[in-house]
This record gives sequence, structure tokens and C-alpha cells, in this order.
Amino acid sequence: MNPKDKDSNTLFEKVRKQFIGLDTEYTLATGETERRIYLDSTATTLMMEAAHEVLERFYHHYGNTHSLLHFDAKIASREYHWAHERILDFVHADRDTYTSFFTGSGTTAGINRLARVFRDIRPDKDVAVVSLMEHHSNDLPHRKHMKEVIHTPVKDMDGNMGCVCLDSLEQLLKENEGKINYVALTGVSNVTGIVNPVNEAAELAHKYGALMLVDGAQMLAHMPVHMTIPHNPVQNIDALVFSGHKTYVPGSPGVVIARKDILNQIEPEEVGGGMVQDVFVDRYEVKNFFPDREEAGTPNIPGAIALAAAIDVLDRIGMDFLQEEEERLINMVIDGMKANSEIHIYGESDPNICKRSASVSFNIKDMDHGLVAAVLNDYFGIAVRNDCFCAHPYVKEMIMDDLFEATEDIPIEEIEAAFHLKRGMVRASFAVYTTAEDIKMLISALNNITERKEFYKNKYHVVNENYTHKTFTLKNDQRFTVLSTLEEILS
Ligand SMILES: Cc1ncc(COP(=O)(O)O)c(C=O)c1O
Repeated sequence: MNPKDKDSNTLFEKVRKQFIGLDTEYTLATGETERRIYLDSTATTLMMEAAHEVLERFYHHYGNTHSLLHFDAKIASREYHWAHERILDFVHADRDTYTSFFTGSGTTAGINRLARVFRDIRPDKDVAVVSLMEHHSNDLPHRKHMKEVIHTPVKDMDGNMGCVCLDSLEQLLKENEGKINYVALTGVSNVTGIVNPVNEAAELAHKYGALMLVDGAQMLAHMPVHMTIPHNPVQNIDALVFSGHKTYVPGSPGVVIARKDILNQIEPEEVGGGMVQDVFVDRYEVKNFFPDREEAGTPNIPGAIALAAAIDVLDRIGMDFLQEEEERLINMVIDGMKANSEIHIYGESDPNICKRSASVSFNIKDMDHGLVAAVLNDYFGIAVRNDCFCAHPYVKEMIMDDLFEATEDIPIEEIEAAFHLKRGMVRASFAVYTTAEDIKMLISALNNITERKEFYKNKYHVVNENYTHKTFTLKNDQRFTVLSTLEEILS
């Protein structure tokens, strides 16, 4: 181990144990009280204690960044400014070319915003290209704000569901040259965890006159991101969006990183206080500097500061190091699942063909995804997500492939009916605090479930479309409520 790896490892081992909620316990349907195993990090990550601690101390100096001269305003403004620069450095976006700004609600707000910007700066190009694996947040905004959206396939030449197919993308860009405004692609699928070659896709987009927007929601906490590639700038990414709540800071400090020359071509999409230089009754003058002109209204100052603090910690450990650690865990999950023939993993699962990060989605033969997720929670204390993960077209395509693999000429009504019965998967997802022990527990739980399907099926009934245990429920004293907490604090 070289000294740098040793330092990374020491810090990694320290930080990964310091997340709020890792020691939360619940009493399970077995009657035992167990530590909750949180495998739902793709939905939202737990909070990093270091970032929380930074916030606790910052609150003693909390003030509005729009105020100017008191001490707290100065401290808040300086640190808020630092947060923007820290984020630019984290994604290797040079400060002269790019700006970063915070938006209200996660990645979704930023993508909606950029779709409108791209539409307005190049009205003659009214088509957007997205991949079939996108989260709805990187699909519907383009459908709404652009005239047309084309979905590029994620199947490889052999028909396997892998990462975005660059050959198909190029073909599509060539056929529609002159019409395509931008390509919007996720860095990592929130369903399968499959990683897309975003810089290579950017090169293709640029070759055909399109811009490149990356949905970084599932990337930022898991791998290094390079918005600029100094030795090959055609691979630069024009804009990237991500969410704080998937990067170890709860709430919704959504972040946009974008080329300033793009944003400068039009008046900012959002207007109000903070982004104007001067206002008269008949006109107003927008600030001519970033990020202020893009941030109308009082920003989420604590969210931004905590997020930049979390990112700083990740960078101290090293994103290459973290990516390798996570790949080890994912391979462990996939090997464990593959050893059980009752488990079907979705998407290409050979790491030599497709890299994965953060998520693995699967189903157990003859068991609904909702039942598996409920059993994992109630009997094993393992928190996972199930359903279609806001990526309906992608999930549907994979489930269809699975259901009708060898059959031909199936009537469409039959396909739809089958899909409605089975629409969904179970997703286990991981983050810096996930351990090999957590993975072993997951695999052992899944093996137990596949061996005792009938036992578990008999324990549940479906209420309001959700699997509900017939007799077991969470103990009252383990249910958090705001009011009982307040009673305790105020008594
Ligand atoms: C890949 C991807 N893009 C976008 C989003 C939307 O993020 P947010 O809910 O923070 O707006 C998610 C959320 O799960 C996601 O996984």
C-alpha cells in the first residue's frame, strides 16, 4: 500500500463509521431488536457527521448572505462563496469557464432550469436526446420544455441492457444533425447502477453541434467527475446537475454547474432579490457576475455549506479510492446474488463489460418486489427500495425482456397485463458507510427468503397496494414524531 492509499484508508475507516443513523435500532417481526441496515442510499444518503458538526458550529454565526456589514453576514457570505468554489474544484470544472449555483429542489430543479436555458439560447434546435435509462427528472423536463425528445437505446449490439450505446447515439446524432440542441445523459443509472461514458458521449454530442448535460445525481458521491478534460476538451461537459441529499447532506441543496458563456446569453430564468444590480419602476438591471445572477432569493445557505463540507471530506479520502472500495462491494453483491438461481439481477452484470456504482436491482422468482422489500425490512432490518424508481420506461423494458425472453408474437394486451402484475424490482443501494458485513447480511437474508417463500407469503396481505404484515407492526416507542420530541425537549 503506498503512503497516499494508507492515508486514504485511515480517513475512510474513520469517516465511514461517522454517519447519523448507522446505529438506529428497530424491533423486528422475529421479536429481536437489531441495528437497521440502510441499503437505500440511491434514494437518499445518510448524513455525514462531519458535515453536521460543521453546520452546528456555523449556526452560531448564521446570517443572511444578502446582508452586508455585520459579522455573521460576512462569515456566511464568505463560506457560502467558498462552497461554490469547492464544488467547482470537486468536479474539475475550471473557475474561469464554469459557475456553480444552488437551486431549490435537488437535481430536478436544475434540469428543468437548464432545459429552459438550452431551449432559449438555441431556439432553432428544438430536439433533445436522452437515454432510455433516465430517471424521470432527466426525461420529463426535456419533454415539457423542448419540442421533441428522442430516446437513445442502452442495449449493446448483442441486445443486453448495458450502458448507453455510443454507436446508436452517434447514428442518431448524425441522422438529426442541425436539429439536436443537447444530449442529456445520466452518469449512473439509479436502477441498475450502470455507469455511462459521459465524457465520450460529450465528444459525440459536440461533434454534431449538440451540448452535453449530465445528470450527476448518482455520480457525485461515488466516483471522480471530470467536467473538463484538459488534454481533450471536446470531451468537456457543458452542464451538470446533482443533489445534496444523495451526497450525504439531507434537504435539497440542488446544484447546477454550467458554462458561464451559455448562461450569459439570456436573462436568468429566475428573477427576484439578490440577482439584480438595480431596480427601477419601469426596468431592472441584472447582475453581470456569477453565481449571484443565477440565485434569486435567499439561498439554502446551511445546505450549501454542509454539502461543500461533505464533498471536501470525500475529496480528502480520494474519489478514485472510494470508487474502488464501492466496486468491491458491488461485485460482492452481484457474486452473492448470482450464486442463488432464484434471484434475477437486471442489466448487464459482468463488471468487465459494464461498470456499476451504487445500485443493484433484482427480483426473486415468483415473489413480488413489494413482498421481498417488506420481508427484508420486517424480518431482517434491511431497508431497500422497491417499485419502478421513477424510471418507468427503463424498468418496463427490462421486465419485458425478462418475462418474454424466449417467446415470440405475444399480443400487446398480454404483455401489458403481465407487466402490471409484476411492475417493479427491488433495489439495494450502497454508499461510503456500507460494509462487507452489510452485504453478507443482505445475501444471507435473500437466501433465507428464497428458501422460505411460502412462509413469508403467508405472513402478509396486500393493503392499499402495499404488502402489510398480518400481525406485526413497529413498536410505538420506536416511532419518531415531531410532537413527542418537542414534548421531551420542552418539558
Ligand atoms: C439519476 C437521478 N436523477 C435525478 C434524480 C432526481 O433527484 P432529486 O429528487 O434530488 O431532484 C434522481 C433521484 O433519485 C436520480 O436518481
